[in-house]
Amino acid sequence: MTTPINYFEQMYAADADPWSFESRWYDARKHALTVAIAPARRYRSAFEPGCSTGRLTARLAPRCDKLLAVDAVESAVTTAAERLAGAPGVTVERATIPAEWPGGTFDLIVLSELGYYFDDADLDTLLTRAVDSLEPGGDLIAVHWRWPVEEHARSGDDVHRALAARPELARLSRLEEADFLLEVFSRTTEARSVAQREGLA
Ligand SMILES: C[S@@+](CC[C@H](N)C(=O)[O-])C[C@H]1O[C@@H](n2cnc3c(N)ncnc32)[C@H](O)[C@@H]1O
Repeated sequence: MTTPINYFEQMYAADADPWSFESRWYDARKHALTVAIAPARRYRSAFEPGCSTGRLTARLAPRCDKLLAVDAVESAVTTAAERLAGAPGVTVERATIPAEWPGGTFDLIVLSELGYYFDDADLDTLLTRAVDSLEPGGDLIAVHWRWPVEEHARSGDDVHRALAARPELARLSRLEEADFLLEVFSRTTEARSVAQREGLA
């Protein structure tokens, strides 16, 4: 079963920063790696669903002309919007995905610690919407926790297997640690390395 939104609402009601993003080195490092691995110097239009309180959003913003960050929980959106107030090109909205997937297309989509909350049908819809709204040659960065969590509908590895199985996506990068998998997929049949994109190879 997909994790219901009231599960997250209760978490935020009990603690405005339920995963301790403000203080944990683990997350600060992972967020930095997530942004550092992005293959393009800049993105024209990026989408980050499940943005929580906007810690990763704030790191992504300087690399994006436009960045849409959404979360299903209003209080998280309020915190993220306050954090990102004044950041050029950043919009923070409340939206539940995959049902409220935004219109338009993106050259970057970031799925960070999100995919394991969805059952088979919803993950399939989410990935289909992501692929459909990714521009040709656009990048999809996925990063997910690997240890078992009782409340998760699936493992992080399972999310990455589902991404790798999408014929529209080719894998460009993979950073595997005991704790998380961080991968970059490109919407293309044959991924071009950063050196190839830059005309160096
Ligand atoms: C573990 S946090 C990840 C936060 C952030 N992406 C990061 O990696 O730092 C998961 C977030 O996803 C949000 N979320 C869960 N299900 C969602 C859904 N169906 N639509 C939108 N947001 C959702 C939760 O409210 C929560 O803020």
